[in-house]
Amino acid sequence: DTEEGLYRPSFHFTPKVGWMNDPNGMFHYNGYYHLYYQHYPDGNKWGPMHWGHAISTDMVSWKEQPIALYPDDKGYIFSGSAVVDLENTSGFGTGGQVPIIAIFTYHNMDIEKAKGIDVESQAIAYSLDEGLTWTKYSGNPVIQNPGIRDFRDPKVSWNEEHEKWVMVLAAQDKVMFYGSKDLKNWELLSDFGADFNKEIGTHGGVWECPDLFPIPVEGTDEVKWVLYVSVNPGGPNGGSATQYFIGDFDGAKFTMDKDFEAALNKGQNHWIDFGKDNYAGVTFSNITSKDGGKFYMGWMSNWEYANEVPTETWRSAMTVAREVKLIKDSQSYRLAFDPVDEIDAYKGVKYKKENIAVEGELELINSEKVNLSRAAINFNIADIKKGGFTFKLGNKKGDELSFGYDSIDHKFFIDRSKSGQIGFSDTFSSKQSIAPRISSSEKLSGTILLDKTSIELFFDEGSTVMTEIFFPNAPFDTLSIETVNQDFILDSIEVNELNIN
Ligand code: FRU
Repeated sequence: DTEEGLYRPSFHFTPKVGWMNDPNGMFHYNGYYHLYYQHYPDGNKWGPMHWGHAISTDMVSWKEQPIALYPDDKGYIFSGSAVVDLENTSGFGTGGQVPIIAIFTYHNMDIEKAKGIDVESQAIAYSLDEGLTWTKYSGNPVIQNPGIRDFRDPKVSWNEEHEKWVMVLAAQDKVMFYGSKDLKNWELLSDFGADFNKEIGTHGGVWECPDLFPIPVEGTDEVKWVLYVSVNPGGPNGGSATQYFIGDFDGAKFTMDKDFEAALNKGQNHWIDFGKDNYAGVTFSNITSKDGGKFYMGWMSNWEYANEVPTETWRSAMTVAREVKLIKDSQSYRLAFDPVDEIDAYKGVKYKKENIAVEGELELINSEKVNLSRAAINFNIADIKKGGFTFKLGNKKGDELSFGYDSIDHKFFIDRSKSGQIGFSDTFSSKQSIAPRISSSEKLSGTILLDKTSIELFFDEGSTVMTEIFFPNAPFDTLSIETVNQDFILDSIEVNELNIN
C-alpha cells in the first residue's frame, strides 16, 4: 500500500502537501463552511506559518483552496479567527459587500532570534469575496505586544448584548479579553487564569488558542458562557490538550460558575477530549446548531510527536466537526460533543446485531471497509460490572488497536502499543490513554468513528470523548470484542460503512 492509500483519511481534512497544525478562522457564510489552518506548504514539519484554506458545504467533505495568508516581513501568520462583519462595522465593505475579517497573530522571527519580548502582536486582514482572497490591513498591528512573550491566538465574536466585538487571546499563563466597535481599535477589558495567589485550571505549559462563547443549557432557557483554553503540555494523558471552564461573561469579565469552581478546586479538571490527539480546537463563527449549540473542530495530533508521525507527503488531519452542547446534571455543567449529523448522509452498508453473547474473544466484522465507519454500541452496566469490555481492530500483519471500558476503575481506554508504526516517538504508545467515566447511567452507550488512521470515541452521549491516531502496517479489516473477567451480553451494535470519496 502507498502512503496515500494506507494513511490518508477520507473525511478528516488533510492538506494535499505539507505541514498543518491548528484550525483557524472557521466561519459559515452563504452555504459554505470555511476552514483555515496553520500551514507550511513547503515542508512536512512546522515552519514559516501560512493560513491554508478549505471549504465545505457539510463540514464532512472538504475542498482545499489556494493559500489565504502568506507570512511577510512583520512575521509568520499564527493562529486566529475570522468573523462575518454583517453590519460593516469595520468599514472594509464596499458596494454593499459584506466583509469577512480575519484576526491573527504576527509572530516575528527576527525579534524571537534577538531574544526580544515583543515577538507577537495581533493583526487583521479582510476579504471582499467571501473568504477566498485577503488583504492585510495597512494599520497592522491592531494590538501591540504589551510586554508578554506569549501573546497570541485571538478568537473574536460579536457580543449581542453589549453590541461590540469581544476578543479572547492567550497570554502565557492567562487569557486576556479585549473589546472593539470596529475590529481595528481594541481596549483591554480583563484577564482570567492567573491571580496573584493562585493559578486557575491546568498550567502544565503555556496557554494557547482560547475560545469564548455563550451556549444554552440543554432543555432550558438558561445561557452560560464557555471558555476553552488549550494547554501544552499538561494534557490528561500527556502533551497538548484542551480544557474548558463554565461561567458567565458580563461583557468585560469572565466569572466561573460556583459549582464548577468547586469541582475544579477538588482537582476535577474539565477536558474537551481525553485522547491524546485533539488540540487547539475552536468553534465556527456565524452559525449555531438548531438547539443553539456550536460547531467545533480540533487539530488531530499532539505536539509530543506531531512532527514525527509516519506520513511524508502531508502531516496531520483535523478532527471530525462536532456539535457542542452544554448539559447540566445533578453536580454541575458539562460539555457534550457529537459528530455533526451531516455524516449520516454518507452511511452505507449496515451491520446490526442485538443481544450478542460474548465469551472470550468474538469477531464481529471482517471487512475491508470497517476502517471507514461509524458505529453505535450499547451495554448494560449490570452485565459488565466485573471487568468491562475490549474492542480490537486487527489486520493481516497482526497489528492491533484496542479500546474499551474498565468497569473496576470506571475508565475508558485506548491502547495503541501494538497498533503498527509506533517507534517514531517515545510517548506515542508508552501508556494506555484513559478517561474517567463521568456518567452514572446504568446504560453505557458509545459512538465510534473510524477513518483509516484515527478513532474518535463519544461515550455516554458525548460526555466523555477520546480521539487518537494510529498508523497500522496494513489497513485494519477486522473488529472483535473481548470479555474482561466475565462473559456478557453485548446489548446492541450497529456499524455503518461510510461512503466518502
Ligand atoms: C498551538 C500554537 C499556537 C500558535 C500556533 C503556531 O498549536 O502553538 O499557539 O499560534 O500553534 O503554529
